[in-house]
Amino acid sequence: MLRLEESCDVEVYQDGPEMPADQLLQRVRGKRGLVSMFNNQVDRRVIEVAADLAVIATVAVGYNNIDVAAARERGIVVTNTPDVLTEATADLAWTLILDMTRRVTEGDRLVRRGGWKGWTFDFMLGADLRGKQLGVVGFGRIGRAVARRAAAFGMRVAVYAPRPPREIGTAEPMPLDRLLATSDVVTLHCPLTPDTRHLIDQKALARMKRTAYLVNTSRGPVVDEAALAWALGSRLIAGAALDVYESEPAVRHELLTLENVVLSPHLGSSTIETRTAMADLAVRNVIAVLSGQPALTPVP
Ligand code: GLV
Repeated sequence: MLRLEESCDVEVYQDGPEMPADQLLQRVRGKRGLVSMFNNQVDRRVIEVAADLAVIATVAVGYNNIDVAAARERGIVVTNTPDVLTEATADLAWTLILDMTRRVTEGDRLVRRGGWKGWTFDFMLGADLRGKQLGVVGFGRIGRAVARRAAAFGMRVAVYAPRPPREIGTAEPMPLDRLLATSDVVTLHCPLTPDTRHLIDQKALARMKRTAYLVNTSRGPVVDEAALAWALGSRLIAGAALDVYESEPAVRHELLTLENVVLSPHLGSSTIETRTAMADLAVRNVIAVLSGQPALTPVP
């Protein structure tokens, strides 16, 4: 793996989970490059105190935590790590789809608490995927990779994307309302923007089939968690699986009490190979910009 220390003086600030905003504000002063995680808020205040900053390299594909407009005003290049995490994130989405429809984590909880009294014919029935419709919301790299895997499970694919989706293959583009009303599994792969905040709210959930499932591996605030807890609790939808939350790492209490939801701790890109490739790409971006070259993967 490429090491930043070989070309720059490096100070490591974050060994633990999240750095308070005021600490980041103090520590970024006088620095030329910032390597940040998706849970560091790099807002206008941070950008304005960091007068010498030339590059902000986030080790993630999503960059909703960075005020890109403020950075641009100051000529700071912002980079992310697309492509290298696409397959791992798509695999995780499918892990969750299979887990929630076949009730694996729910069954694991039952076994561990000694609640399994033996096999019976109609015990813990889940739902088949074959012949059903997967609704993919957002058709960027990850949405496309998730859609590609659907054929292996015999699912047809419906796609909602705000712009005409590319590389659509046999998938059917649909308005969001229709996708929600007709899909058996809805999986979210859009970035978090003002337009997608609470895209899946009470009205959207009410449109879904009572037998349908929702998966979110994008960003927590794309789903209104209070509305989702209500929909799951009142069996308005069959189940959900979440890898991301509105106020990570806090998880809404009602969700913790429900059996029909799988909760994973933001594992989308967390494989050894993928995290190594993400770190490597972020380092390459910093070195490129600091040596006067164009960034490899600037944010669009
Ligand atoms: C992680 O959540 C990412 O955006 O890469």
